[in-house]
Order: sequence, then structure tokens, then C-alpha cells
Amino acid sequence: MNYVERIKEFVATHKNMDFYTDRACEREVVGLLNYDESAILPYTVESPLLKADGSRVASAEEWKNSRRQEIIELFKNELYGAVPPMPDAVEYKEISCKKDALNGKAVRKEIDIVFKINNGKQHTVPVLLYFPADAKGKVPVFINLNFKGNHTITSEKDVRMTGLLNDDKSFLTEEQRSCHAFRNSIEMVIARGYGCCTASYNDFFPDHIDGWSDSIYSLFGDFNGYSRGHEKYSSIGAWAWGCSRLMDLVEEIKEFDSSKTVLHGHSRLGKTALWAGALDERFKIVIANNSGLGGAAMTKRRFGELYVYLVTAMPHWFIKRTAFYIANEEAQNFDQHFLMSLIAPRKLVVASAENDIWSDPYGEYLGAFHAGEVYSLFGADVLKSSHRQAVGTVITSDISYHIRPGKHAQNEIDWLHYLDIADKFF
Ligand code: GCU
Repeated sequence: MNYVERIKEFVATHKNMDFYTDRACEREVVGLLNYDESAILPYTVESPLLKADGSRVASAEEWKNSRRQEIIELFKNELYGAVPPMPDAVEYKEISCKKDALNGKAVRKEIDIVFKINNGKQHTVPVLLYFPADAKGKVPVFINLNFKGNHTITSEKDVRMTGLLNDDKSFLTEEQRSCHAFRNSIEMVIARGYGCCTASYNDFFPDHIDGWSDSIYSLFGDFNGYSRGHEKYSSIGAWAWGCSRLMDLVEEIKEFDSSKTVLHGHSRLGKTALWAGALDERFKIVIANNSGLGGAAMTKRRFGELYVYLVTAMPHWFIKRTAFYIANEEAQNFDQHFLMSLIAPRKLVVASAENDIWSDPYGEYLGAFHAGEVYSLFGADVLKSSHRQAVGTVITSDISYHIRPGKHAQNEIDWLHYLDIADKFF
């Protein structure tokens, strides 16, 4: 029996898998995953240019006017769910402004975005932003959602603790301040002349199975007591919506050049960045750092993490429908290169780490490589070879890719490449 057959058999005999109540099952599933390139079964790479009616997209115009929307619908219906509605009103409240932040190098602002519904419901997301103090004009801006709260991505001790909606309160301590500073590398970003704008993903949807009632979805319906997966909505959908709401704010900040924006995300937030970047064409460069399954990696390779883990361990990340593809990846008539095609002809950046085998680095590369079919319609520079790239490779083009040594992370090495890419295109 090959590993795919073993997983299919396991799934058939464990109909109601739930890792929250059965940790032993989780361990067994992890033990069934494949990390052997030679064991991968042959799989089909569909062409994103083949339309639902069987005809083939022949031009960039045709792509933009018809096929692009078909693929957006596909990802809404199969993975990430519907785009959340807009609130009736949005208010931006400046909470603080520090003119000599980062030793005088930057101006820092904390702003609350208050989403309001006419029935009185409100939801507040606290945002942190910086721009260079000596900026001569508007600056391009890096936008992202952070994991553990705004206070964890800056060295400045007087930034408010955010991400308060998460059930895990361990991030909300003085010791946790700046623990994720390397993920945003704000000092580097400011030194290179860019601004940045960030909020905790937990403030849009607290990342746990019961997060619904504290999420932005609670503005639009009754999610009290709701748990796990949903037919129509997903947490990735809420986070992607959140990226666009940060973009709305960026458009209001006069120091930012909202025509030059980079959306970046690491891991689950790399998956999110791709979906947000696919939907919202205001993001001009979209970076998926170590995004793995459900991100840049080709699902049908079935290497490293599989749906059997992802969808069972994090059922709120995707819509319920995605579970149909557990141990059934071959039934997908699409793969993640379709998602990245939606970003064309804007700049796409995929990054891998050598030891991040859970995320399938070669699968991430292939996702970016195959997205090239659509980028080529626009005459864009694409990845030339389908071969695995040597560790240390850095390719900067309309589709950029790098693979650095080391583990799953977004660190200074990644930032050097991201800033070079932004310099090149802005
Ligand atoms: C888990 C999950 C991955 C995800 C990662 C992260 O490992 O299985 O799919 O990318 O968390 O977001 O850190």
C-alpha cells in the first residue's frame, strides 16, 4: 500500500475525526504523511486557462473579463468561502502619535478601526503604523497581519498590547513584547524608506475553533456558540477581508503612497495574503512567506502537510466544503497555481525555507512556476524552470522566488529580498 492508500484507509475507518477530542488520532495522522519525493504519485496540473465551458483563454483581456472571475468563484466555493459584507460605517480613531519613534527615525501612530452596523453592533481593530520621519513625500507601504499582537512586532515598549480577543492570553505579557520583531523587521523597513501598517489577525478572527462569536462575522449575524467549520465563511476569509480593511486605512493616511503597497504574510497568513491579494487588486506586490498547503504549495503533490491534517486540526480556517478533498485531493480540478494566477500581472513573491518540509518548499516553487502560464499572457517575466531550486537561490522578476537555509520563519534574510523587490518595482 502506498501512503495515499494508507491515508484513504485511515480516513475511511475514522469517519468523525476531531483532533480536539482525540489527540492520539492527530498523532497517527501526522505519522502517515509523506516526505519522500520519490513516493509522490503522478498527478495532473490543470491549466488555469481552460474555461468551465471547455474553451481556452486566448488573451489577457479574456482572462480579466471572464476566466479570472470563474476562478475567484471556485476558491470561494471550495476553500476560502464568501467575502464578508461591509459594515454600514467605518470610523478611524487616532489613539496615539509619536513623532520621535524608533530613536527619531520614524513617526508612529496607533489607530483604531471601528466597524459599525446600524443596529448598534461594533467591532474594533487596533492598528499600528510607522513611516520614516525624514520622508520627502509619500512612501510605499508594507501591510500585514501579525500573529501575536502589535506589541510583539516592535521593540518599542509603549505600544498597546493587542490581539486581546485570542483565547490564548500568553502573548499579553511584558516578556512577549518584541518577540516577533524579526517577522516585521520595522527598523530595516524604515531605514529603506518604506512605511508599514499592521494589526493582529486575532482582532479580525481570534484563531481558534470558537473564535466566531468574537470575529468580524458577529457583526453580520449571530455566531454565539458557533464552533469549528462553517458552510459559507472561513477565518482565512475574515483575515483576507482584514487585509483589505488595512488597505482602506492606508488610503486615508496622507504620508502613504497607496498606489505602492506590498501585502505580506507568513505561513497561515501567507495563505491569507494570497487570497487577499487575489481578491483586492490594490495590493501591487503580494508575498507568501512559507505559506505551504492552502497557500503556494501544490496540493496534489501530497507532500508534507495534507488536508487530512490541515482541515481537521484547523476546521475554521477553510469552509466545510474543503473537507470533501480530504484524502481526495485528486478530485480537485484546480490547484494553488490557479490562486496565484489571480494576482497577475501584479507582482507575486513566493518564499520557502529549506527545512520547512511541512510546507513543501518544492511544491511552493511549483505553484509559483505554474502560475506563470497566466502571467505569460500579460508578457510578464515568469519562473523559467520547473526544477527544484538550490538552497540560496534568489529570483527577482514579476514572479519572484527565493529559498533560504533554515526553518519555518520570516526573518531578516527574507526581508532583504522583499525590500530589494520593492525597490526594483517601486
Ligand atoms: C500549522 C499549519 C500550517 C500553517 C502553520 C502556521 O503548522 O499546519 O498549515 O501554515 O500552522 O501558520 O504557522
